[in-house]
Amino acid sequence: MEFVQQTIKTYDQIASEYCIKTRQQKFLDWEENYIMKMLSYISASNPLILDVGCGDGRHCLIIEKNGGRAEGVDLSDGMLNEAKKLYPKGSFRKMDMRKLDFEDGHFDGIWASGCIYHVPKSEVEDVILEFKRILKEQGIIAVNFKLGEGEGMEANPRSYSGSPRYFAYYSEEEMGDIFSKLDFEELESCTYPEEIFGDKIQQMWFRLKGR
Ligand SMILES: C[S@@+](CC[C@H](N)C(=O)[O-])C[C@H]1O[C@@H](n2cnc3c(N)ncnc32)[C@H](O)[C@@H]1O
Repeated sequence: MEFVQQTIKTYDQIASEYCIKTRQQKFLDWEENYIMKMLSYISASNPLILDVGCGDGRHCLIIEKNGGRAEGVDLSDGMLNEAKKLYPKGSFRKMDMRKLDFEDGHFDGIWASGCIYHVPKSEVEDVILEFKRILKEQGIIAVNFKLGEGEGMEANPRSYSGSPRYFAYYSEEEMGDIFSKLDFEELESCTYPEEIFGDKIQQMWFRLKGR
């Protein structure tokens, strides 16, 4: 089974446990701030935002609460079921971020939280090119990822019963270089507080340059 399929199988198994963990208010406060920052970079009113790898859909709720329209996509049925339970009126579809079923130039912004590190580094540029394809000119991408080096399947016996997931780690500079090479301008970058999130997580905002 390829890495992505294996990772999705794990999310199907751990969905309810994962969602209890991530819905804590101490995380939501930070996430809401960063979603609002993404929205503040977009001039369109009521902008259309893709929440890619949306997981339990809580960020779609936050996007809509703050004046955006959200479409959530994820490849895990288990996570999508959680999203539909949390936000029955939300729009959620099963989709692989490597091949998004949206027309070119469809979205004002993309919120990519904790998902691009689940594809091997050899595929990450293609994923970002796919994001670029469906973004409007001057569209915004807000992405967060784990800081570090290396990549591979990880199965921590203390986390989710040791179910394996693929992780690729990046430095801030490395991620900035990838987006810059693909015609994005870096707008801002900051690190989530490690004492709250328990991991070194970087949040970055990029704008697609004119085509
Ligand atoms: C760490 S969770 C993040 C969920 C949510 N965005 C958040 O910030 O809590 C990663 C999510 O990415 C999804 N995912 C992983 N690979 C994917 C792919 N190739 N296409 C779509 N979703 C994917 C997983 O199913 C999972 O819901």
